Amino acid sequence: MKNVLVCIAGSIGAVEIQNYLTVLRSTWGSSIHVIMTESATKMIQKDTVNYFIDGNVFVNSTDSTDQFKIPHIHLTAWADLMVIIPASANIIGKVANGIADDLLSTAAMAAKCPVIFCPNMNEHMLNRPAMQRNLKQLKEDGYLIVEPGEEEAIQLSTGQKVQGAMPSAGQFIPRLEETLRGQGIHV
Ligand SMILES: Cc1cc2nc3c(=O)[nH]c(=O)nc-3n(C[C@H](O)[C@H](O)[C@H](O)COP(=O)(O)O)c2cc1C
Repeated sequence: MKNVLVCIAGSIGAVEIQNYLTVLRSTWGSSIHVIMTESATKMIQKDTVNYFIDGNVFVNSTDSTDQFKIPHIHLTAWADLMVIIPASANIIGKVANGIADDLLSTAAMAAKCPVIFCPNMNEHMLNRPAMQRNLKQLKEDGYLIVEPGEEEAIQLSTGQKVQGAMPSAGQFIPRLEETLRGQGIHV
C-alpha cells in the first residue's frame, strides 16, 4: 500500500491521529495525503497533521494543488487505499446514504480503490439501529469496515475501554491487513 489517503472525520479519536500516521509511514512506508472534515479541524489542527505526513492536507473540495486539481477525483485516482479514521457516525451515515456534501464524503463516493472505515463513537451511538443499518449498507456497497470494539482501545472522552473505539495505533496495521486479507488483498 504505497499511496494511502487518510481521511479524518470529527470523532474524538482524531486527537490521536499522529500515532496512526506514524505507524503507516514506518510499517508500510506509505506516502500519505490527508482529507479532514471541518469538524475534524476543530479537534486537531490541520497544520499539526501536516507535520506527520509527506503529502498535503485537504479540507475543502476546492483545495486544489497542481497535482490534485480536483481533489476528490485526483486524490482517489492517486490512492491505493483510502482509510477513514476515525469514522464518525455522521460520515458513515452520509456515505451509506449516497450523500456527498463535503470533500471526504465525495471522495468516498469517487474512490475506485478499497475504502476502509474505522468507526469511532460511543457505544450508544454505535448500537443505534440507524448506525447498524448504515454499517450493513456500507458493507453491501463494497466498503470495508474495521469492526470496533475487538481490541483494547481507550475512548478518550471517558477514559474507559469501550466498544465503539477504533483500533489502537499498535493494532492499526494488523487490523487493516486483516480486513484487506478478508477481501483477498495481501499487503
Ligand atoms: C468533543 C466532541 C467529540 C465528538 N466525538 C465524536 C465521536 O467520537 N464520534 C462521532 O461519531 N461523533 C463525535 N462527535 C460529533 C461529531 O463531531 C459531529 O457529528 C460532526 O457533525 C461530525 O462531522 P464529520 O462527520 O463531517 O466529521 C463529537 C463532537 C464533539 C464536539
